Amino acid sequence: MSELPIIRTENVHKHFGDNHVLKGISLDFPTGTTTVILGGSGSGKSVLMKHLIGLLSPDEGRVLIEGDDLAGLQGEALTKVRGKFGMVFQWAALFDSMSVLENVAFPLREHRKDLSEEQIRALVAEKLALFGLEGIEEKYPADLSGGMRKRVGLARAIIMDPKIVLYDEPTTGLDPITTDYVDEMIKRAKEKLGVTSVVISHDVASTFNIADYIAFLYDGAIVAYGPPAEVKASEHPFVQQFLGTWFRKN
Ligand SMILES: Nc1ncnc2c1ncn2[C@@H]1O[C@H](COP(=O)(O)OP(=O)(O)OP(=O)(O)O)[C@@H](O)[C@H]1O
Ligand SMILES: [Mg+2]
Repeated sequence: MSELPIIRTENVHKHFGDNHVLKGISLDFPTGTTTVILGGSGSGKSVLMKHLIGLLSPDEGRVLIEGDDLAGLQGEALTKVRGKFGMVFQWAALFDSMSVLENVAFPLREHRKDLSEEQIRALVAEKLALFGLEGIEEKYPADLSGGMRKRVGLARAIIMDPKIVLYDEPTTGLDPITTDYVDEMIKRAKEKLGVTSVVISHDVASTFNIADYIAFLYDGAIVAYGPPAEVKASEHPFVQQFLGTWFRKN
């Protein structure tokens, strides 16, 4: 298939002072697939993710979104490209003082001033239902379990029907059952809405559950890439150690 990948990074380098964090990252994220960026703490995962949405720009190399170089975009064109993304932050980051309805509706109220109150409520209800959260619009984050909060965060991330959803460690700090549940929701967003997902993780079980492709980041470079079975067979010593420890225990 020669279809243009929805995201492509070409030889992306990033330094912070003397710290060379990304050392030439070239990756394609095929449309409609889930790619997990797996790696240890401090390997550069969050820095890489921030480049995908233009929150950071490369010192060298390019990031292309559907063929458009992010570095060349400004103003309305940049806003338009950013509109292709939804993002789920590590700690769900709901607004505590706002109801579930207001949390999920937040992007709509910012960007879709053309919608009526009734239309907004209908869209929120539809996205909540997709994640098995019917009728919780009037609740507040404090009333919800950690897993429910995550799912509300997911509903908010997809409320604008983005083509791409970025998840920064969506299951860190969750128990194994809730992790499974959140993984199912990530798969559901892909299957029902056709979104391209990029997931940052250091959770091996979750990674092998959801990934179409795994990109293993080590010391600022991709040292293994491919479908899960291929990455599992990688002979890179750090990848072997990282995965081996987990597979031996499970
Ligand atoms: N804004 C910044 N300014 C300076 N250094 C930064 C900045 N952001 C990240 N770094 C450095 O870049 C390196 C990679 O950080 P990053 O947050 O990408 O790691 P990570 O792989 O996401 O780790 P974790 O799993 O702990 O979240 C670290 O050495 C970090 O200190
Ligand atoms: Mg991080």
